[in-house]
Amino acid sequence: MRRMTSARILACTALLFAPIVNAHMVPELTAEQAVEAGRNYQQYCALCHGENRQGHVNDHAPSLRSKSLLETGFPERTAAIAYGRLGTPMPGFLDEIGGPMSEEEIGRLARWLNDQEGIEVPRPGLPIPIQGDTVLGAKIYDRDCSECHGSSGEGVTGTALGNPAMLSMTSDAFLRHAIVNGRQETEMAAFGEHLSDAEIDAVTAYIRSRATGWSVQKPVLRKPPAVGSYVINPDGAPPNFELKDDRYVLSSDLYDAIQNKRRMVILDTRVMSLWQLSHIEGSVPLPYYYERETLADIADDLPRDGTWIVTYCECPRAAAEFVNAKLVDLGFENTAVLWEGAFGWVGLGYPVSRGDTSLGQKASLSPSITEHAAR
Ligand code: HEC
Ligand code: HEC
Repeated sequence: MRRMTSARILACTALLFAPIVNAHMVPELTAEQAVEAGRNYQQYCALCHGENRQGHVNDHAPSLRSKSLLETGFPERTAAIAYGRLGTPMPGFLDEIGGPMSEEEIGRLARWLNDQEGIEVPRPGLPIPIQGDTVLGAKIYDRDCSECHGSSGEGVTGTALGNPAMLSMTSDAFLRHAIVNGRQETEMAAFGEHLSDAEIDAVTAYIRSRATGWSVQKPVLRKPPAVGSYVINPDGAPPNFELKDDRYVLSSDLYDAIQNKRRMVILDTRVMSLWQLSHIEGSVPLPYYYERETLADIADDLPRDGTWIVTYCECPRAAAEFVNAKLVDLGFENTAVLWEGAFGWVGLGYPVSRGDTSLGQKASLSPSITEHAAR
Protein backbone atom coordinates (compact mmCIF):
# COMPACT_ATOMS: atom_id res chain seq x y z
CA MET A 1 0.00 0.00 0.00
CA ARG A 2 1.42 3.31 -1.08
CA ARG A 3 0.06 5.11 1.96
CA MET A 4 1.69 2.87 4.52
CA THR A 5 4.71 5.08 4.93
CA SER A 6 7.12 4.37 7.74
CA ALA A 7 5.81 7.34 9.71
CA ARG A 8 2.33 5.94 9.54
CA ILE A 9 3.40 2.49 10.65
CA LEU A 10 5.28 4.08 13.53
CA ALA A 11 2.21 6.04 14.51
CA CYS A 12 0.14 2.83 14.43
CA THR A 13 2.20 1.34 17.18
CA ALA A 14 1.23 4.06 19.63
CA LEU A 15 -2.20 5.11 18.55
CA LEU A 16 -5.10 2.72 18.43
CA PHE A 17 -5.61 3.49 14.81
CA ALA A 18 -3.53 5.15 12.17
CA PRO A 19 -3.99 8.83 11.56
CA ILE A 20 -5.00 9.10 7.96
CA VAL A 21 -2.64 11.77 6.79
CA ASN A 22 0.85 12.72 7.77
CA ALA A 23 2.83 15.78 6.93
CA HIS A 24 4.81 14.19 4.12
CA MET A 25 1.67 13.37 2.22
CA VAL A 26 0.48 16.95 1.96
CA PRO A 27 2.70 18.91 -0.40
CA GLU A 28 2.69 22.70 -0.42
CA LEU A 29 -0.69 24.02 -1.50
CA THR A 30 -1.14 25.66 -4.86
CA ALA A 31 -2.93 29.01 -4.83
CA GLU A 32 -6.06 27.25 -6.04
CA GLN A 33 -5.89 24.59 -3.34
CA ALA A 34 -5.44 27.26 -0.69
CA VAL A 35 -8.57 29.04 -1.89
CA GLU A 36 -10.46 25.74 -1.84
CA ALA A 37 -9.23 24.96 1.70
CA GLY A 38 -10.21 28.43 2.92
CA ARG A 39 -13.64 27.99 1.42
CA ASN A 40 -14.03 24.58 3.05
CA TYR A 41 -13.01 26.07 6.36
CA GLN A 42 -15.66 28.80 6.20
CA GLN A 43 -18.31 26.35 5.03
CA TYR A 44 -17.65 23.50 7.45
CA CYS A 45 -15.75 24.81 10.46
CA ALA A 46 -16.41 28.50 11.07
CA LEU A 47 -19.74 27.76 12.72
CA CYS A 48 -17.98 26.49 15.85
CA HIS A 49 -14.31 27.42 15.53
CA GLY A 50 -15.04 30.97 14.31
CA GLU A 51 -14.49 32.88 11.10
CA ASN A 52 -10.94 33.71 12.13
CA ARG A 53 -10.13 30.28 13.64
CA GLN A 54 -10.16 31.92 17.06
CA GLY A 55 -12.22 29.15 18.68
CA HIS A 56 -14.92 29.16 21.35
CA VAL A 57 -17.67 30.53 19.11
CA ASN A 58 -19.89 27.49 19.68
CA ASP A 59 -19.49 24.51 21.98
CA HIS A 60 -16.09 25.66 23.25
CA ALA A 61 -14.53 24.47 20.03
CA PRO A 62 -10.78 25.06 20.52
CA SER A 63 -8.75 27.73 18.81
CA LEU A 64 -7.28 26.47 15.54
CA ARG A 65 -4.66 29.18 15.33
CA SER A 66 -2.73 28.94 18.57
CA LYS A 67 0.97 28.46 17.97
CA SER A 68 1.32 25.60 20.44
CA LEU A 69 -1.42 23.63 18.68
CA LEU A 70 -0.05 24.16 15.17
CA GLU A 71 3.55 23.36 15.99
CA THR A 72 2.59 19.86 17.12
CA GLY A 73 0.20 17.03 16.35
CA PHE A 74 -0.38 17.16 12.61
CA PRO A 75 -1.64 13.54 12.46
CA GLU A 76 -3.78 14.21 15.54
CA ARG A 77 -5.31 17.19 13.78
CA THR A 78 -6.17 15.34 10.59
CA ALA A 79 -7.60 12.44 12.60
CA ALA A 80 -9.79 14.82 14.63
CA ILE A 81 -11.10 16.39 11.43
CA ALA A 82 -11.60 13.05 9.70
CA TYR A 83 -13.22 11.05 12.47
CA GLY A 84 -14.39 13.71 14.88
CA ARG A 85 -14.39 13.12 18.61
CA LEU A 86 -17.30 10.87 19.30
CA GLY A 87 -19.17 12.05 22.37
CA THR A 88 -18.19 15.70 21.85
CA PRO A 89 -19.71 18.16 19.38
CA MET A 90 -16.71 17.70 17.03
CA PRO A 91 -18.10 15.74 14.08
CA GLY A 92 -16.16 13.60 11.60
CA PHE A 93 -15.80 15.00 8.10
CA LEU A 94 -14.33 12.06 6.18
CA ASP A 95 -16.39 10.68 3.30
CA GLU A 96 -15.84 7.10 4.48
CA ILE A 97 -17.97 7.80 7.54
CA GLY A 98 -20.53 9.88 5.71
CA GLY A 99 -18.85 13.28 5.93
CA PRO A 100 -18.50 15.74 3.09
CA MET A 101 -14.70 15.69 2.57
CA SER A 102 -12.14 13.38 0.98
CA GLU A 103 -8.93 12.39 2.75
CA GLU A 104 -6.97 14.70 0.43
CA GLU A 105 -9.22 17.68 1.14
CA ILE A 106 -8.86 17.10 4.86
CA GLY A 107 -5.07 16.94 4.56
CA ARG A 108 -5.02 20.19 2.61
CA LEU A 109 -7.35 21.90 5.09
CA ALA A 110 -5.10 20.83 7.97
CA ARG A 111 -2.08 22.19 6.14
CA TRP A 112 -3.94 25.41 5.31
CA LEU A 113 -4.52 25.95 9.04
CA ASN A 114 -0.75 25.94 9.54
CA ASP A 115 -0.13 28.14 6.53
CA GLN A 116 -2.51 30.80 7.86
CA GLU A 117 -0.23 31.33 10.85
CA GLY A 118 3.00 30.75 8.94
CA ILE A 119 3.87 27.79 11.16
CA GLU A 120 5.64 24.95 9.42
CA VAL A 121 3.79 21.63 9.41
CA PRO A 122 5.46 19.61 12.17
CA ARG A 123 6.97 16.23 11.39
CA PRO A 124 5.38 13.37 13.30
CA GLY A 125 7.39 12.62 16.42
CA LEU A 126 8.18 9.21 17.82
CA PRO A 127 5.14 7.95 19.71
CA ILE A 128 6.96 7.23 22.95
CA PRO A 129 4.70 6.65 25.96
CA ILE A 130 5.31 9.10 28.79
CA GLN A 131 5.85 7.41 32.15
CA GLY A 132 4.63 9.14 35.27
CA ASP A 133 3.13 8.72 38.72
CA THR A 134 -0.60 8.45 37.99
CA VAL A 135 -1.59 8.82 41.67
CA LEU A 136 0.21 12.14 41.83
CA GLY A 137 -1.24 12.93 38.38
CA ALA A 138 -4.80 12.40 39.63
CA LYS A 139 -4.19 14.83 42.50
CA ILE A 140 -2.80 17.49 40.19
CA TYR A 141 -5.66 16.93 37.79
CA ASP A 142 -8.27 17.45 40.51
CA ARG A 143 -6.55 20.56 41.77
CA ASP A 144 -5.46 22.30 38.57
CA CYS A 145 -7.47 20.93 35.67
CA SER A 146 -10.87 19.60 36.66
CA GLU A 147 -12.50 23.01 36.87
CA CYS A 148 -12.26 23.47 33.10
CA HIS A 149 -11.90 19.91 31.83
CA GLY A 150 -14.44 18.29 34.18
CA SER A 151 -13.90 16.01 37.14
CA SER A 152 -14.13 12.96 34.88
CA GLY A 153 -12.53 14.61 31.90
CA GLU A 154 -15.94 15.17 30.33
CA GLY A 155 -15.05 18.70 29.23
CA VAL A 156 -16.51 21.99 30.49
CA THR A 157 -14.94 25.09 28.99
CA GLY A 158 -11.86 23.01 28.15
CA THR A 159 -11.85 19.99 25.84
CA ALA A 160 -12.94 16.51 26.97
CA LEU A 161 -9.64 15.02 28.17
CA GLY A 162 -11.27 11.73 29.21
CA ASN A 163 -12.82 11.26 25.80
CA PRO A 164 -11.84 7.84 24.42
CA ALA A 165 -11.94 9.05 20.83
CA MET A 166 -9.57 11.92 21.60
CA LEU A 167 -7.20 9.69 23.57
CA SER A 168 -7.12 6.99 20.94
CA MET A 169 -6.08 9.49 18.29
CA THR A 170 -3.61 11.45 20.36
CA SER A 171 -0.04 10.76 21.36
CA ASP A 172 1.35 11.46 24.83
CA ALA A 173 3.76 13.97 23.30
CA PHE A 174 0.84 15.94 21.88
CA LEU A 175 -0.90 16.08 25.27
CA ARG A 176 2.31 17.00 27.04
CA HIS A 177 3.03 19.78 24.55
CA ALA A 178 -0.37 21.34 25.23
CA ILE A 179 0.12 21.10 29.00
CA VAL A 180 3.61 22.61 28.98
CA ASN A 181 2.91 25.39 26.48
CA GLY A 182 -0.79 26.02 26.98
CA ARG A 183 -2.73 27.37 24.02
CA GLN A 184 -2.10 31.01 23.19
CA GLU A 185 -5.07 33.39 23.33
CA THR A 186 -7.22 30.80 25.11
CA GLU A 187 -7.86 29.97 28.77
CA MET A 188 -5.42 27.07 28.62
CA ALA A 189 -2.37 28.28 30.56
CA ALA A 190 1.22 27.12 30.05
CA PHE A 191 1.65 24.74 33.00
CA GLY A 192 5.34 24.42 32.19
CA GLU A 193 5.66 27.59 34.26
CA HIS A 194 3.85 26.17 37.30
CA LEU A 195 4.60 22.46 37.43
CA SER A 196 7.84 20.48 37.51
CA ASP A 197 8.75 18.06 34.72
CA ALA A 198 7.83 15.12 36.96
CA GLU A 199 4.45 16.68 37.74
CA ILE A 200 3.75 17.24 34.07
CA ASP A 201 4.69 13.64 33.28
CA ALA A 202 2.42 12.53 36.13
CA VAL A 203 -0.64 14.40 34.90
CA THR A 204 0.02 13.31 31.28
CA ALA A 205 0.25 9.68 32.37
CA TYR A 206 -2.92 10.10 34.41
CA ILE A 207 -4.87 11.45 31.41
CA ARG A 208 -3.55 8.57 29.29
CA SER A 209 -4.68 6.09 31.91
CA ARG A 210 -8.26 7.18 31.23
CA ALA A 211 -8.15 5.78 27.67
CA THR A 212 -10.32 2.85 26.73
CA GLY A 213 -10.26 0.72 23.64
CA TRP A 214 -12.16 2.98 21.31
CA SER A 215 -11.40 2.40 17.69
CA VAL A 216 -12.91 3.58 14.46
CA GLN A 217 -15.10 1.04 12.78
CA LYS A 218 -16.34 1.50 9.31
CA PRO A 219 -20.12 1.71 9.45
CA VAL A 220 -22.38 0.57 6.67
CA LEU A 221 -23.68 3.81 5.26
CA ARG A 222 -27.43 4.14 4.96
CA LYS A 223 -29.00 5.94 2.08
CA PRO A 224 -30.88 9.06 3.18
CA PRO A 225 -34.55 9.20 2.11
CA ALA A 226 -35.05 10.42 -1.45
CA VAL A 227 -36.09 14.00 -2.07
CA GLY A 228 -39.86 13.99 -2.33
CA SER A 229 -40.30 11.57 0.57
CA TYR A 230 -39.24 14.11 3.19
CA VAL A 231 -42.69 14.45 4.72
CA ILE A 232 -43.37 11.90 7.43
CA ASN A 233 -46.92 10.77 8.00
CA PRO A 234 -48.16 12.53 4.85
CA ASP A 235 -51.78 11.73 5.71
CA GLY A 236 -51.53 12.85 9.33
CA ALA A 237 -52.93 16.02 10.90
CA PRO A 238 -50.50 18.87 11.55
CA PRO A 239 -48.86 18.92 14.98
CA ASN A 240 -50.10 21.59 17.35
CA PHE A 241 -46.74 22.86 18.53
CA GLU A 242 -46.63 25.56 21.16
CA LEU A 243 -43.31 27.19 20.43
CA LYS A 244 -41.01 28.56 23.06
CA ASP A 245 -39.95 32.11 22.14
CA ASP A 246 -41.87 31.70 18.85
CA ARG A 247 -39.08 29.52 17.55
CA TYR A 248 -38.31 26.42 19.58
CA VAL A 249 -40.12 23.12 19.91
CA LEU A 250 -39.47 21.00 22.99
CA SER A 251 -38.31 17.40 22.60
CA SER A 252 -41.38 16.19 24.47
CA ASP A 253 -43.69 17.95 21.98
CA LEU A 254 -41.77 16.66 18.97
CA TYR A 255 -41.86 13.14 20.37
CA ASP A 256 -45.63 13.38 20.92
CA ALA A 257 -46.09 14.59 17.36
CA ILE A 258 -44.05 11.65 16.07
CA GLN A 259 -46.00 9.20 18.21
CA ASN A 260 -49.31 10.69 17.09
CA LYS A 261 -48.29 10.39 13.46
CA ARG A 262 -48.44 14.09 12.67
CA ARG A 263 -47.52 15.34 9.24
CA MET A 264 -44.16 17.16 9.25
CA VAL A 265 -40.60 17.33 8.00
CA ILE A 266 -37.66 16.84 10.36
CA LEU A 267 -34.28 18.07 9.11
CA ASP A 268 -31.02 16.96 10.66
CA THR A 269 -28.70 19.92 10.07
CA ARG A 270 -25.52 18.32 11.40
CA VAL A 271 -22.62 16.95 9.40
CA MET A 272 -23.85 13.97 7.41
CA SER A 273 -21.60 11.54 9.32
CA LEU A 274 -23.58 12.28 12.47
CA TRP A 275 -26.86 11.46 10.74
CA GLN A 276 -25.24 8.14 9.81
CA LEU A 277 -24.21 7.57 13.42
CA SER A 278 -27.61 8.25 14.91
CA HIS A 279 -30.58 10.42 14.12
CA ILE A 280 -34.18 11.02 15.02
CA GLU A 281 -36.00 8.50 12.90
CA GLY A 282 -37.75 10.06 9.94
CA SER A 283 -35.29 12.94 9.83
CA VAL A 284 -33.58 13.84 6.60
CA PRO A 285 -30.00 15.12 6.54
CA LEU A 286 -29.72 18.72 5.41
CA PRO A 287 -26.30 19.77 6.67
CA TYR A 288 -25.70 23.39 7.63
CA TYR A 289 -22.87 23.60 5.12
CA TYR A 290 -25.01 23.16 2.02
CA GLU A 291 -24.61 26.12 -0.29
CA ARG A 292 -27.55 28.44 -0.66
CA GLU A 293 -28.28 27.10 -4.16
CA THR A 294 -28.33 23.48 -2.96
CA LEU A 295 -30.61 24.47 -0.14
CA ALA A 296 -32.87 26.36 -2.53
CA ASP A 297 -33.00 23.27 -4.79
CA ILE A 298 -34.00 21.11 -1.87
CA ALA A 299 -36.45 23.75 -0.73
CA ASP A 300 -38.21 23.39 -4.10
CA ASP A 301 -39.10 19.87 -3.00
CA LEU A 302 -40.27 20.82 0.47
CA PRO A 303 -44.00 21.32 0.87
CA ARG A 304 -45.21 24.93 0.84
CA ASP A 305 -48.62 24.14 2.25
CA GLY A 306 -47.81 25.06 5.84
CA THR A 307 -46.36 21.65 6.74
CA TRP A 308 -44.20 22.05 9.82
CA ILE A 309 -40.45 21.86 9.27
CA VAL A 310 -38.38 21.13 12.37
CA THR A 311 -34.59 21.46 12.30
CA TYR A 312 -32.21 20.06 14.85
CA CYS A 313 -28.50 19.72 15.50
CA GLU A 314 -26.27 18.82 18.38
CA CYS A 315 -24.76 22.18 19.12
CA PRO A 316 -27.49 22.29 20.67
CA ARG A 317 -28.97 24.82 18.28
CA ALA A 318 -26.40 26.77 16.26
CA ALA A 319 -26.54 24.76 13.01
CA ALA A 320 -30.29 24.21 13.32
CA GLU A 321 -30.94 27.93 13.79
CA PHE A 322 -28.68 28.69 10.86
CA VAL A 323 -30.69 26.45 8.51
CA ASN A 324 -33.97 27.56 10.05
CA ALA A 325 -33.14 31.18 9.30
CA LYS A 326 -32.44 30.29 5.68
CA LEU A 327 -35.77 28.49 5.40
CA VAL A 328 -37.59 31.48 6.87
CA ASP A 329 -35.74 33.59 4.33
CA LEU A 330 -37.00 31.33 1.55
CA GLY A 331 -40.54 32.00 2.72
CA PHE A 332 -41.36 28.87 4.73
CA GLU A 333 -43.92 29.65 7.40
CA ASN A 334 -44.22 26.91 9.99
CA THR A 335 -40.65 26.30 11.03
CA ALA A 336 -39.20 25.36 14.40
CA VAL A 337 -35.87 24.49 15.99
CA LEU A 338 -35.57 21.59 18.43
CA TRP A 339 -34.78 23.27 21.76
CA GLU A 340 -32.69 20.59 23.44
CA GLY A 341 -30.82 19.45 20.30
CA ALA A 342 -29.88 15.86 19.51
CA PHE A 343 -27.86 15.33 22.71
CA GLY A 344 -30.75 16.66 24.78
CA TRP A 345 -33.18 14.43 22.90
CA VAL A 346 -31.06 11.37 23.68
CA GLY A 347 -30.45 12.58 27.23
CA LEU A 348 -34.20 12.73 27.80
CA GLY A 349 -34.46 9.11 26.70
CA TYR A 350 -36.11 9.58 23.30
CA PRO A 351 -35.18 7.05 20.60
CA VAL A 352 -32.74 7.50 17.76
CA SER A 353 -31.74 5.09 15.06
CA ARG A 354 -28.42 4.49 13.47
CA GLY A 355 -27.61 4.80 9.83
CA ASP A 356 -26.50 1.19 9.77
CA THR A 357 -29.24 -0.66 11.60
CA SER A 358 -31.53 -2.68 9.45
CA LEU A 359 -35.06 -1.36 9.56
CA GLY A 360 -36.53 -4.52 11.02
CA GLN A 361 -34.64 -4.06 14.29
CA LYS A 362 -36.21 -0.77 15.27
CA ALA A 363 -39.02 -2.14 17.36
CA SER A 364 -39.45 0.89 19.59
CA LEU A 365 -40.37 3.28 16.81
CA SER A 366 -43.86 3.97 15.61
CA PRO A 367 -44.71 1.99 12.47
CA SER A 368 -45.46 5.02 10.36
CA ILE A 369 -42.00 6.48 10.80
CA THR A 370 -40.45 3.15 10.01
CA GLU A 371 -42.66 2.86 6.94
CA HIS A 372 -41.47 6.27 5.88
CA ALA A 373 -37.85 5.29 6.16
CA ALA A 374 -38.51 2.09 4.25
CA ARG A 375 -39.97 3.94 1.30
C1 HEC B 1 -20.42 21.62 15.77
C2 HEC B 1 -19.22 22.32 16.15
C3 HEC B 1 -17.94 22.01 15.42
C4 HEC B 1 -17.71 22.01 14.05
C5 HEC B 1 -18.69 22.32 12.94
C6 HEC B 1 -16.31 21.70 13.89
N1 HEC B 1 -15.72 21.51 15.11
FE1 HEC B 1 -13.78 21.02 15.45
N2 HEC B 1 -14.15 20.82 17.42
C7 HEC B 1 -15.33 21.14 18.05
C8 HEC B 1 -15.20 20.87 19.48
C9 HEC B 1 -16.26 21.11 20.52
C10 HEC B 1 -13.90 20.36 19.68
C11 HEC B 1 -13.27 19.90 21.00
C12 HEC B 1 -13.78 18.52 21.30
C13 HEC B 1 -13.17 17.94 22.58
O1 HEC B 1 -13.69 18.20 23.67
O2 HEC B 1 -12.17 17.21 22.44
C14 HEC B 1 -13.26 20.36 18.36
C15 HEC B 1 -11.96 19.93 18.15
C16 HEC B 1 -11.29 20.09 16.96
C17 HEC B 1 -9.88 19.79 16.76
C18 HEC B 1 -8.91 19.32 17.81
C19 HEC B 1 -8.18 20.55 18.32
C20 HEC B 1 -7.32 20.30 19.53
O3 HEC B 1 -7.20 21.24 20.33
O4 HEC B 1 -6.81 19.21 19.68
C21 HEC B 1 -9.59 20.12 15.47
C22 HEC B 1 -8.24 20.02 14.78
C23 HEC B 1 -10.82 20.57 14.85
N3 HEC B 1 -11.83 20.54 15.77
C24 HEC B 1 -10.91 21.00 13.55
C25 HEC B 1 -12.13 21.27 12.92
C26 HEC B 1 -12.24 21.54 11.50
C27 HEC B 1 -11.07 21.69 10.56
C28 HEC B 1 -13.57 21.67 11.24
C29 HEC B 1 -14.22 21.88 9.89
C30 HEC B 1 -13.86 20.90 8.87
C31 HEC B 1 -14.29 21.53 12.51
N4 HEC B 1 -13.38 21.28 13.48
C32 HEC B 1 -15.67 21.65 12.66
C33 HEC B 1 -16.49 21.59 17.45
C34 HEC B 1 -16.68 21.69 16.07
C1 HEC C 1 -9.01 27.84 33.04
C2 HEC C 1 -9.41 26.67 32.32
C3 HEC C 1 -8.40 25.54 32.11
C4 HEC C 1 -7.62 24.93 33.06
C5 HEC C 1 -7.54 25.23 34.55
C6 HEC C 1 -6.88 23.89 32.35
N1 HEC C 1 -7.23 23.90 31.02
FE1 HEC C 1 -6.51 22.64 29.60
N2 HEC C 1 -7.59 23.60 28.18
C7 HEC C 1 -8.47 24.63 28.43
C8 HEC C 1 -9.05 25.08 27.16
C9 HEC C 1 -10.06 26.18 26.99
C10 HEC C 1 -8.45 24.28 26.15
C11 HEC C 1 -8.67 24.41 24.66
C12 HEC C 1 -7.77 25.54 24.23
C13 HEC C 1 -7.95 25.97 22.80
O1 HEC C 1 -8.89 26.70 22.52
O2 HEC C 1 -7.09 25.59 22.00
C14 HEC C 1 -7.55 23.36 26.84
C15 HEC C 1 -6.78 22.40 26.18
C16 HEC C 1 -6.03 21.42 26.81
C17 HEC C 1 -5.36 20.34 26.17
C18 HEC C 1 -5.37 20.05 24.68
C19 HEC C 1 -6.50 19.08 24.43
C20 HEC C 1 -6.81 18.83 22.97
O3 HEC C 1 -7.89 18.30 22.72
O4 HEC C 1 -6.03 19.18 22.11
C21 HEC C 1 -4.77 19.58 27.15
C22 HEC C 1 -3.97 18.30 26.95
C23 HEC C 1 -5.05 20.22 28.40
N3 HEC C 1 -5.83 21.34 28.16
C24 HEC C 1 -4.63 19.75 29.62
C25 HEC C 1 -4.81 20.43 30.82
C26 HEC C 1 -4.26 19.99 32.09
C27 HEC C 1 -3.47 18.72 32.28
C28 HEC C 1 -4.61 20.93 33.01
C29 HEC C 1 -4.22 20.98 34.46
C30 HEC C 1 -2.83 20.86 34.75
C31 HEC C 1 -5.41 21.94 32.33
N4 HEC C 1 -5.51 21.60 31.00
C32 HEC C 1 -5.99 23.03 32.94
C33 HEC C 1 -8.78 25.18 29.64
C34 HEC C 1 -8.16 24.87 30.84
